[in-house]
Amino acid sequence: MAKTYNICLLPGDGIGPEIIAEGVKVLDAVGVKYDTAFAYTEALLGGCAIDATGTALPDETLHVAEASDAVLLAAVGGPKWDTTDPAKPRPEQGLLGIRKALGLYTNLRPVQIFAALADASTLKPEIVDGVDMMIVRELTGGLYFGRRERFYDEEGCGTHGAAGQRAYDTLEYREYEVERIARQAFEAARKRRNKVTSVDKANVLETSRMWREIVHRIGAEEYPDVELEDLLVDNTAMQLISRPVDFDVVVTENMFGDILSDEAAQITGSLGMLASASLGDGTALYEPSHGSAPDIAGKGIANPLAQILSVEMMLRYSFNLGEAADDIRRAVTAVLDEGWRTGDIKQADTPADKVVGTVQMGDLVVAHL
Ligand code: IPM
Ligand code: MG
Repeated sequence: MAKTYNICLLPGDGIGPEIIAEGVKVLDAVGVKYDTAFAYTEALLGGCAIDATGTALPDETLHVAEASDAVLLAAVGGPKWDTTDPAKPRPEQGLLGIRKALGLYTNLRPVQIFAALADASTLKPEIVDGVDMMIVRELTGGLYFGRRERFYDEEGCGTHGAAGQRAYDTLEYREYEVERIARQAFEAARKRRNKVTSVDKANVLETSRMWREIVHRIGAEEYPDVELEDLLVDNTAMQLISRPVDFDVVVTENMFGDILSDEAAQITGSLGMLASASLGDGTALYEPSHGSAPDIAGKGIANPLAQILSVEMMLRYSFNLGEAADDIRRAVTAVLDEGWRTGDIKQADTPADKVVGTVQMGDLVVAHL
């Protein structure tokens, strides 16, 4: 009897439903080849959930996710739900809520260059050649989850003491939160090139000074074999584009990681190619690093490869199906090597008949499997 894995599908908004269909197609092909079965339960998250239920993360969705062996998410959000009104629900609350509720404190964002796409970067080829880093972003703490408030301040302050609106967000960490993300980073480094860059703003922030101390203690006590360096976040933003090849594992606070991972994605020139895994102690979640691209939704032209590579990460990290995961990567590489491109990764010299849509791209990957 083939083993059955239960997967919660969260198509979300924008291009989400289109790309997740390709992820499922690839999973089904893997199932046939490796005599494994995948069973899917679809649930609502983000804008579509707000429309249907009034909240971005319905209880039902959380129950389905918790009961599954893994969650495959596409993307959430869109202009329809954009608001600065704190009283209105936002699609992103669904994403942040499910990360927190599932305890997904580790966000792995691999940044690699596919040889066939080396020209897609806006950086010089000699700078990006060989880039292979893993951003380990802390995902359930820091500035994203601290106390926050917006209120009307009757008194104002001091000489410019006009009354007016006031708002704050707080960045807070507890020791165990830094310890566990540090361990994840060191473990990842041991499977790679044995180097961790810990990114902080220790010249200004108290949380960063604590972060630095804890990361060094864990490193010295438990991972003396792994090289550890500290880098201030502003400097990291610079070094990432001047010497990206030097980075192996980069570990950092939630908000810093959000910003730096978009920057790192651009090194490859193709955000449409980058997958991510969010891991905790229970059910893990896999999603592309890109957003819901509302401008191209429904047109059948979105790049499904980041979603398909998220499936690769799911097979590797949640199901221990490393061989099948390698197979997906090989198939994607082969499709790119043959010159097939979606619009976002099209190069100046890509022939028109090699430009394909979302569904064809999924079919090509399946054909190579
Ligand atoms: C990401 C996204 C999310 C984040 C948004 C959509 C809330 O930018 O996964 O990087 O900020 O974490
Ligand atoms: Mg982001």
